[in-house]
Amino acid sequence: MSNTIVIGAQWGDEGKGKIVDLLTEEADIVVRPQGGNNAGHTVIIGDKEYILHLIPSGILWPGKQCVIGNGVVMDPVALLAEIDGLAEKNIAITPDNLRISDRAHLVMPFHREMDAYHEASRGSNKIGTTKRGIGPTYGDKIDRIGFRLHDLVGDPVQFSERLFERVEACNGLFESVGMEKLDAEVIGKELLAAAERLRPFCANTVEILHTAMREKRSLLFEGAQGTYLDIDQGTYPYVTSSNTTSGGACTGSGVPPQKIDRVVGVTKAYTTRVGEGPFPTQNDDLANRFHKLGREFGATTGRKRRCGWLDLVLVRYAAMVNGFSDLAITILDGLDDCPEIPVCTHYELDGKELRLPPACAKEFERAIPVYTNLPGWQSDTTGCTTYDELPENARAYLARIEKETGTPVSMVGVGPARDQTIIR
Ligand code: GDP
Ligand code: IMO
Ligand code: MG
Repeated sequence: MSNTIVIGAQWGDEGKGKIVDLLTEEADIVVRPQGGNNAGHTVIIGDKEYILHLIPSGILWPGKQCVIGNGVVMDPVALLAEIDGLAEKNIAITPDNLRISDRAHLVMPFHREMDAYHEASRGSNKIGTTKRGIGPTYGDKIDRIGFRLHDLVGDPVQFSERLFERVEACNGLFESVGMEKLDAEVIGKELLAAAERLRPFCANTVEILHTAMREKRSLLFEGAQGTYLDIDQGTYPYVTSSNTTSGGACTGSGVPPQKIDRVVGVTKAYTTRVGEGPFPTQNDDLANRFHKLGREFGATTGRKRRCGWLDLVLVRYAAMVNGFSDLAITILDGLDDCPEIPVCTHYELDGKELRLPPACAKEFERAIPVYTNLPGWQSDTTGCTTYDELPENARAYLARIEKETGTPVSMVGVGPARDQTIIR
């Protein structure tokens, strides 16, 4: 029995879905501890592509159990659509393979509207959110006025009363800024219908996970987003609204830190970011190259991802705050045709060397990345199945990452398919 957390080391979309899919083979229960349907985790099995938003990627393995933890913000209608979409691909989701925490907060239509309103009112300072209502839902949770799954499925009458009050309060704001008012009756009907379908999934998932640990079963935590979207450690305010770092896996599931045996940091061999905010190593030529190949488009919103060189300042700090035991380097094949590969080892800011990221977004914007140019390997790695088969310069590239971050590389992705990952 061992419990593993998988965490993105950059700004999300590092390929966590694929790594979780691989590690699920050894796990009994796969847990999503935070975030919501802002996430999009891609898993490719044979000729089928699955994009998971709220449901743990482990659901694709027959016989594995999945849990949506208390730290997740869950849009009931979006979840049911995801369940139905998977059913069409012959993945059956029942309370036997999925349980949802009774304490998970619900994303409501007014949260989505509020998200859109906040973004519009920020003008050129917008965050570039996924507009899934994530920030306002976590805001209400912290403000102690949120709605949780047990409210919806446990006491629909009281839920409806509170819903009407809340929609009325939101409508006051929406009307004053010229937005359309919401119809509480319509929302209530849709949510109460969702409640009927969701009731059998609702459970005390803390009890389920602790029972599993007593029975020596293994847990795998599927982090969403990435370290630099973390509300505390990320490039604030250009972040999401949850703790995406490893501590969030504990608070978001009710599993205590001493039960965690391994924390895998997932890192692209280069860097990408969707949405606004600082990105010192951004490189538009690299982005154009990937976009022309049809790569690096957001799995949730379809937006073009910004792309740049590997930033080891980010991965170094991510290794510290998450306690990475090892790194999974993904999309190494993305660099196959580069003659030379710059890696950022530190920043320069006002004449000083920075080896760790600054707190302030404005300083981040001004930080000048300092690169070391490493020789490329200019050969196709997509067929490599062992570490030794990788070209020498590719191995040197990985060794440099290990040296700068003090963390061993345990897995290397050389293609999107399930079998295109080298396990060291
Ligand atoms: P996640 O949100 O961290 O799960 O990542 P996404 O699914 O949003 O984005 C990662 C993208 O990279 C997906 O399209 C994956 O299919 C793809 N991918 C993952 N690992 C590899 C790899 O090693 N090589 C290549 N070429 N693609 C990969
Ligand atoms: P996965 O799990 C990449 C980004 C958004 C925006 C910021 C805030 O697939 O890696 P939000 O809607 O959360 O309030 O948006 O966070 N973002 C992601 N970027 N991958 C994700 O998830 C993301 N989830 C949120 O683009 O910049
Ligand atoms: Mg993604």
